[in-house]
Amino acid sequence: MPAHFTQTIALVTGATNQIGHFLLPRLQAAGFRVIAISRAPIPPSAQGIMWQQLDLNTQALPPVAPSILFHLAPLSLLPKLLAELPNPLPIQRVIAFSSTSCFTKVSSSDPKEREIVQGLNDAELALAKVCSERQIAWTVFRPTLIYGAGKDKNISFIAQFIQRFGFFPLLAGGEGLRQPVHADDLAAACVQAYAEEATYNRAYNLSGGQTLSYREMVEGVFYSLGKPPRIISIPAQLFKLGVKIARNLPRFQHLSPAMLDRMNQDLCFDHKPATDDFGYRPRPFHASDLGLSPKPVNLLRPKSKQNAG
Ligand SMILES: NC(=O)c1ccc[n+]([C@@H]2O[C@H](COP(=O)([O-])OP(=O)(O)OC[C@H]3O[C@@H](n4cnc5c(N)ncnc54)[C@H](OP(=O)(O)O)[C@@H]3O)[C@@H](O)[C@H]2O)c1
Repeated sequence: MPAHFTQTIALVTGATNQIGHFLLPRLQAAGFRVIAISRAPIPPSAQGIMWQQLDLNTQALPPVAPSILFHLAPLSLLPKLLAELPNPLPIQRVIAFSSTSCFTKVSSSDPKEREIVQGLNDAELALAKVCSERQIAWTVFRPTLIYGAGKDKNISFIAQFIQRFGFFPLLAGGEGLRQPVHADDLAAACVQAYAEEATYNRAYNLSGGQTLSYREMVEGVFYSLGKPPRIISIPAQLFKLGVKIARNLPRFQHLSPAMLDRMNQDLCFDHKPATDDFGYRPRPFHASDLGLSPKPVNLLRPKSKQNAG
């Protein structure tokens, strides 16, 4: 740990998500005392971590000083939390996560997605403003599609679908290019960047280490599950109808017909500025490293019953 951050506490909001899964041990290994924040009670895996159960919609950040904040929770919560910090400021540095959805979903056919984009853009601007007013050095990371801890709604969902139905449907060829990024590479980016002054008051797009088509990504999931790829091309109208019906089931509520439009679009971002400024070098997408749960999930059962069973 660089000298000026010795004795600094790492505050991690959104500690239960897929980036937090890898970031907490990385921060401990880097010598930080770690305070993890979540609405959930302390999990058995949180050894050596101080756990604070807080709802950041209504409760303030703990004023522990000096601290660095790694904000993995929704970005929209952050500007208000920073504006309300007491003086003298306990937090000297913030790394927060936005998303490349800011660019890829800006003209989505789904109004909900456009609303999310607006929310992210507004939050990024508000974060820069409050940090400039309060003189906190900020960095925003905008990842592409995240995978690696078995907690995502992309790769893990594809895997669960394949395990349940034995095939995966694609619109036309599924030729759109993707750069899935491993959650552990994002956790590493946090540790690489926090002390690098070149990263202060800047945003970076963080894509994964390999560019592949949506179809190749799905094939990778089949291989990871030890199955030969069975991909079926479905006509657009039929696919959209299927998604509309499936959205009535809890496990499919995150699906949107707009996702189908994107299956054949390239969603690619250059991460060279991050490599130049703090040595970001994400791994390639590999079937052996998808973090998938070996236990098949029944997508047709409600989530609560799954958890209970
Ligand atoms: N998933 C992707 O592919 C993707 C792609 C690009 C960017 N991102 C961005 O990357 C970050 C991580 O994404 P993710 O998909 O791993 O996680 P996520 O599902 O967005 O994680 C949200 C986290 O925030 C916490 N949280 C939510 N509301 C809270 C509240 N009121 N008070 C306290 N904690 C709260 C949740 O923790 P508890 O439920 O434990 O409280 C959870 O750990 C997010 O900023 C996301 O926007 C994600």
